[in-house]
Amino acid sequence: MLHDSDETIQGAAGTTPAVSAKLVKGRAGLSAARKLANILSAALNTTQARVMLKKILKRLEKRGSLSREQNHAWLQSNHQDFATLAVAIDPDLWSESQQFGQELRSRATAVLSRLDVNLSGGGYYPMLYFVTRWAKPDCIVETGVAAGYSSQAFLMAIRRNGTGRLHSSDFPLFRLPDPRRFIGILVEETLREGWDLHVNGDEANLPVILSRIQQVDVFHYDSDKSYSGRAHAMSLITERMSHQGLIIMDDVQDNSFFFDYITNNNISEFSIFDFENKYIGLIGSLVRPQSSTLERRSVRGEVSGGSPYGDPDWSSDSPNSDSMITPSSKPHE
Ligand SMILES: C[S@@+](CC[C@H](N)C(=O)[O-])C[C@H]1O[C@@H](n2cnc3c(N)ncnc32)[C@H](O)[C@@H]1O
Repeated sequence: MLHDSDETIQGAAGTTPAVSAKLVKGRAGLSAARKLANILSAALNTTQARVMLKKILKRLEKRGSLSREQNHAWLQSNHQDFATLAVAIDPDLWSESQQFGQELRSRATAVLSRLDVNLSGGGYYPMLYFVTRWAKPDCIVETGVAAGYSSQAFLMAIRRNGTGRLHSSDFPLFRLPDPRRFIGILVEETLREGWDLHVNGDEANLPVILSRIQQVDVFHYDSDKSYSGRAHAMSLITERMSHQGLIIMDDVQDNSFFFDYITNNNISEFSIFDFENKYIGLIGSLVRPQSSTLERRSVRGEVSGGSPYGDPDWSSDSPNSDSMITPSSKPHE
């Protein structure tokens, strides 16, 4: 179900590959003039204009405590290979995740090659699928849908788990004509039932999503990559994370928000992975044995109201914490 200003509208989330094929006009992409015309037309909508203006201003804001080079060096020296970790945790599940990844890549090639628009690239979808199948979360919140690699990964894993719900927040790519049509275009029709999709931007969407749920078990951040965008979303979400919740943040090389966050909050249970020339940050432990949904519920009961950030449990109770990466306290100069 797609939510737009609290109205349910059909179209974007229901756009099938067959419908999207009608959009084909060759693969040359949009001209600069056409993109500008689309941007100006989107700006006539006041809600969109506000979000657009903020996005432009955010390009001027601070990048965090580290320079780009320092942040890159820190990520480079702290990252690990997710596949190696996944094989150590559950080799069969990693094979299944890779198989899912191959199928999604083929689907993306078939669907996206029929469009003459360039949609944003995807998150680390085999990892997201693996994490969801492994942790069996009840509630997943993601920001940033675009074509929907991550949404397809979460929704397919939820279906195979037989439990869980995905709440997604996005904002249309306003350089495109009628951009709502493209949101989640990779998500299979049969997986859309029960998908809670909001398209008014994180600032408006996240409070609505949070008003509908109790706790978040997995939070995937892949939308506004600015420092303040990340900070705002984290300030809303972290106090609602469940006890063993996992936070996955994409493109942490863009600024040093992730480094600053784990440093300022004394978080030791974190990892960094690389995928397609970018870095992904994970807060929480995949190595800790996963409890059943029922056990997790009872743990949540005991800690209800507590924030995982600054909560000693967040960083101290993993029996396998030695196998997690320990952050170097100082970045490389
Ligand atoms: C990198 S793409 C997301 C990719 C997606 N997670 C996937 O795996 O396919 C980023 C998306 O975030 C959206 N976005 C950018 N700023 C946003 C904001 N303030 N609120 C919500 N979505 C935003 C963009 O329009 C775009 O659709």
